[in-house]
Amino acid sequence: MMDNKNITWHEGKVTKQHRQALNRHKSAILWFTGLSGSGKSTISVELEKKLYEIGFKTYRLDGDNIRHGLNKDLGFSEKERNENIRRIGEVSKLMVDAGILTLSAFISPFKLDRQSVREMMDDGEFIEIHVDASIEACESRDPKGLYKKAREGKIKGFTGIDSPYEAPDSPEIVIDTESLTVDESVETILAYLHDHDFFS
Ligand code: ADX
Repeated sequence: MMDNKNITWHEGKVTKQHRQALNRHKSAILWFTGLSGSGKSTISVELEKKLYEIGFKTYRLDGDNIRHGLNKDLGFSEKERNENIRRIGEVSKLMVDAGILTLSAFISPFKLDRQSVREMMDDGEFIEIHVDASIEACESRDPKGLYKKAREGKIKGFTGIDSPYEAPDSPEIVIDTESLTVDESVETILAYLHDHDFFS
C-alpha cells in the first residue's frame, strides 16, 4: 500500500451541484449487475440512446470494454474482480462528480464490492439494477459462446458455472429479462428515473 500521508484534498470552486445545475439534471450511477448473458450491455446501450434523446449527459462503462483498457491487467480471480469493481466504482464516482448519468454494466458478482461502491456515493446516487435471468436462460443464449467453453473446461472460474454470483437482496430495480423485452426493460428504468425526479 502506498503512503498517502503527504497528500491533501484540494477543493475546486465548481462543484458537482454547479455542474448538475448547468446540465439541468441530477447525476448518479445506474449500476447493472447480473450474469454474463443476462442482458446488462444490451439494456444499457438502448437506455443510453433514449437518455441521450431526452437530453441527458451520459457515459457507459462496460466490463468487456473496460477490460480492454483501464483494467486490462486484471483477470477473473476473486481478488481481481474486487479490484475491477473498486476501480470502476472510483471512475463512476468521478463521472457522477462531473455531472454525468453513468451506466456501469459489470457482472460484479460480489455483494460486498457493490456495497462498497454504494457507500462511496451520496444517498440516491447508486441505483442498483439487477438484470435477472436464470443461469439456464443465460447459458442457452450464450451470445459469446463462453458458457460452452466454460462447460468444456476451457474457461475456469466462470460466473454461474464454477464461480459464484451473489444476487442483490434489495436492488432499486429488478429487470427480469426472461419476461420483459428490451424496450420494456428500458421503459422500467426510465419510469424509475422519472419517479425519482431525474426528469419531468
Ligand atoms: S466482473 O465479474 O469482474 O464484474 P466483468 O463484468 O468485468 O466481470 O467482465 C465480464 C465479461 O468478461 C463477461 O461478459 C465475459 O465476456 C468475460 N469473461 C471472461 N472470463 C470470464 C469469467 N471467468 N467469468 C465471467 N466472465 C468472464
